[in-house]
Amino acid sequence: MEGNAGKRIKCKAAVAYGPGQPMSVEDIYVDPPKAGEIRVKIVGSGICRSDLHILDTNIANDFTFPLIMGHEGSGVVESVGTGVTAFSPGDHIIPLWIPNCQKCDLCMNRKTNFCQTGTQETMNVMPDGTTRFWTLDGKPIYKSIGCAAFSEYTVMPIESVIAIDKSVDLEKVCLIGCCVVTGYGNVVNVAKVDRDSQVAVFGLGAIGLAAIMAAKECGARRIIGVDINEDKFPIAAKFGATECVNPQKLPDGVATVEQLFQSSYGGLDYTFECVGNVRAIKSAFESLNRWGVCVVVGLPPRGTDVPINPWLLLTGQKLTGSFYGGYKPREGIKYLMDKYMSGQLDLDLFVTNKLKLQDINRGFDLMRKGETIRTVIVFDK
Ligand SMILES: NC(=O)c1ccc[n+]([C@@H]2O[C@H](COP(=O)([O-])OP(=O)(O)OC[C@H]3O[C@@H](n4cnc5c(N)ncnc54)[C@H](O)[C@@H]3O)[C@@H](O)[C@H]2O)c1
Ligand SMILES: [Zn+2]
Ligand SMILES: [Zn+2]
Repeated sequence: MEGNAGKRIKCKAAVAYGPGQPMSVEDIYVDPPKAGEIRVKIVGSGICRSDLHILDTNIANDFTFPLIMGHEGSGVVESVGTGVTAFSPGDHIIPLWIPNCQKCDLCMNRKTNFCQTGTQETMNVMPDGTTRFWTLDGKPIYKSIGCAAFSEYTVMPIESVIAIDKSVDLEKVCLIGCCVVTGYGNVVNVAKVDRDSQVAVFGLGAIGLAAIMAAKECGARRIIGVDINEDKFPIAAKFGATECVNPQKLPDGVATVEQLFQSSYGGLDYTFECVGNVRAIKSAFESLNRWGVCVVVGLPPRGTDVPINPWLLLTGQKLTGSFYGGYKPREGIKYLMDKYMSGQLDLDLFVTNKLKLQDINRGFDLMRKGETIRTVIVFDK
């Protein structure tokens, strides 16, 4: 591996050539890291719904294709660019899809978890505006969500990387980098769920299930899983859901899930929308009691609006949302890594499938069909 430092590497990556098309797993070139960058050999990379949104709909509508997705990764530093002292070859890392330089005005502001080095553009390219990925015939390939973890090698600016303990299983802890930090953070850090509260989680994918796990830990009395796919219900129970509801199969005389929660439970203290569906956001908000908090986590299609009754804001219901569970990325990942290392976070519950990179399109299909919680792409060592 060390023999490649300073040279281009030829390796396999899953390249998306455009929305609506399957990815092509092919050989690409990965440039060496420039100043302030590191090149990483990816070990594990989870498939998150946000990748699916990009592939199926180019959700943000401004990603340049062809691109390499994957933002829930883990890996080992292969080489470092000039001036990099914080990382050395062999270090184990998790890439951050929101950078955290710890120096800029935003990083110094406790009220936000954004960083000035992170822009819409740097989601697609490196901070200097160029790419490190090339097709074999010399055309540029871009990143999505800043990481490009569906490639055997990626290049990251050091603002967007956290070093982790070398003893942990990289094929598991990659999940901390998105679904776990997101689900946990929204419960513990954004909503601050309290003991004996009544909680509903809309959407029982890995994000929603991590939220359920966290709500259980916070001592919530009632944790209701809401999903249109009832195959998720027994899984949600394992994570701590006390009951589950299918909004498409409500009792006679009940028109909406929010009506059910208002009439049966007097409204809920906390709701989490982990789908990305405007109707589900409205339901989650209108399910609250007067001191309730609704957190939007799912990514709804761009250009959509949520019609809500503003009088509910006047009576005290709160509507909010976040990326990364509202954590400064380094703080959130450190918190969860410590939890994992002390045996208090069961990542095995999330991993339902492991696939090789060449089978990545099958992993995306499993998610489209609702047949997986997390598929982890595992790379050859
Ligand atoms: N805010 C963030 O920081 C952040 C981070 C990661 C992912 N996300 C977003 O969170 C969402 C969930 O991601 P995931 O990886 O867990 O996805 P997933 O596909 O694994 O899970 C989504 C679940 O929602 C269910 N669902 C679909 N329509 C529904 C409806 N109308 N009502 C109730 N349930 C419904 C599906 O059956 C599925 O079980 C996605 O939109 C993803 O893009 C946000
Ligand atoms: Zn994600
Ligand atoms: Zn910053």
